[in-house]
Amino acid sequence: MKLHIFKDADAAAQAAADFIADRISTGNAKVLGLATGKTPIGIYDLLRQKVAAGQLSFSDVTAFNLDEYLGISADNPASFAAFMQQRLFDHVPFLAHHIPDGTAADPNAEALAYEARIKAAGGIDLQLLGIGRNGHIGFNEPGAAFDSVTRVVDLSESTRIANASDFPDGQQVPQQALTMGIASIMNARQILLVATGEAKAEALRAAFRDSASPDCPASALQAHEDAVVFADKAAAEKLSSD
Ligand code: GLP
Repeated sequence: MKLHIFKDADAAAQAAADFIADRISTGNAKVLGLATGKTPIGIYDLLRQKVAAGQLSFSDVTAFNLDEYLGISADNPASFAAFMQQRLFDHVPFLAHHIPDGTAADPNAEALAYEARIKAAGGIDLQLLGIGRNGHIGFNEPGAAFDSVTRVVDLSESTRIANASDFPDGQQVPQQALTMGIASIMNARQILLVATGEAKAEALRAAFRDSASPDCPASALQAHEDAVVFADKAAAEKLSSD
């Protein structure tokens, strides 16, 4: 794991956008894994600016998102599909972009089909990740098996509480989600995990300073041969750079 520490969240987002843009421009990210949540917002804004300035194109890039809530449709503003449309896909042409279908009649079949779609695309060249406060990656919560693939998962209470702000007007945060598994994520040829803010400091410490354990899903990344972590000082406060 290669750790880079930045002075603040903006600097980390800029570095992440530059990293992703470079991998795309050099043909090393034809299949791009994307994340949702607050952390990627600044990164996607910067990538949109690069496209608008004619410095970058996603026209031959196929995107796969990590996860989606179960039981809400893509036109619900709280869905990850809506988030991605608003933050990226409405503004930037991709060759294709995929996200698990949260309204699938047979979610388990959807999960298997999604995993097969990733394989059919040749696998993920670069996977962008955030990290949950409890160390989750995608919606792989503590206890998730390191050999897990795309599947239906139960969301932990802490995750539902952390994500409640995305569900205004008293909307309930779904109990379940579809998520790429830890093995699905580890199959990516390169991983860029971005973490900012002191709320992620303990998750990063557990992920990269404790022995790998399902108690901290992100710790699986210790075994990845090309995992890069971009953290601001606040998120890295419990890590010392390698
Ligand atoms: C959600 C997403 C994760 C994301 C995490 C942290 O649960 N499923 O992919 O990394 O939240 O989000 P944030 O960046 O808002 O802290």
